Amino acid sequence: MTTGLRFLVLGSAAGGGLPQWNCNCANCAAARDTSSGLLLQTQSSLAVSLDGETWAIFNASPDIRQQIQQTPHLHPKGLRHSPIRSVVVTNADVDHIGGLLTLREKQGFDLFCTATIGGVIDANPIFGVLDPAIVRRHAIRLDETFFPLEGLEARIFAVPGKVALFLEGDTPDLGLEGEQTIGIEFLVGGRRAYYIPGCASLPDWLCGRLHGADLVFFDGTVFADDEMIRAGTGHKTGRRMGHMPIMGDEKGPGSLHSLSGLEIGRMIYVHINNTNPIWRDGPERKAVTAAGFEIGHDGMEIGLA
Ligand code: MLT
Ligand code: MN
Ligand code: ZN
Repeated sequence: MTTGLRFLVLGSAAGGGLPQWNCNCANCAAARDTSSGLLLQTQSSLAVSLDGETWAIFNASPDIRQQIQQTPHLHPKGLRHSPIRSVVVTNADVDHIGGLLTLREKQGFDLFCTATIGGVIDANPIFGVLDPAIVRRHAIRLDETFFPLEGLEARIFAVPGKVALFLEGDTPDLGLEGEQTIGIEFLVGGRRAYYIPGCASLPDWLCGRLHGADLVFFDGTVFADDEMIRAGTGHKTGRRMGHMPIMGDEKGPGSLHSLSGLEIGRMIYVHINNTNPIWRDGPERKAVTAAGFEIGHDGMEIGLA
């Protein structure tokens, strides 16, 4: 098996997945139609490995059972065994922590998250199914180096965001920069990669950090800020959900413009909402690919030698 830093997109869709259980928008309907060519996509998660045998999972989505099932790398190799050594959580949204409930069954792994995200998990007693004697919890601090796998150097840093939807008050702060929403920086063998599935804006300091990266996975939730309103599927904008749109408008820049000015080896959108038109051929998808950016999909594998 080849070694080197490997990334495997387990789930490329945002919360709800594609299709979402109660949605019949054009994308969801197409995803249910096997002749459409649009494949089902599961909820937001990334697997990372250095040796191809042990894996770290970034975000435990409610679809993790299915994701493991469709990924032979993650199948047990012994009677009771899992190649999954660790789970790292980038925010406390349901699509990123719901899968922790599936990972019960007396299997040991390391769970890395900030103290703030850990506090949200601890406040929900159902997560007590992860026996702390077996699932080792590590509170990681912003800008601190940690090792989700042996030899895999990573660092977390705050990115603009908000608290989880289920913790929002009447007027949530949409531009928090703290332990609620984090990005991951991978540093291996002179290579630098990022995983940022949720991000409310791209301030100069963040663009500066991403500049020169070999690989960036970035929040592609919505193409247009108001696309859910226009599709008739919801009343919230992308920005209100803590996700900057791909395409800018009079209210602010989009990620496509901000990131295309940077030197980035491969730029891949993930955490893509089911309403996002980039799922299908059309001008929006073309705008993304014309910038040299890629659209993540379940099973996408990227190696950095
Ligand atoms: C989000 O990314 O905005 C959340 O996953 C929303 C949700 O919890 O459904
Ligand atoms: Mn989400
Ligand atoms: Zn839909």
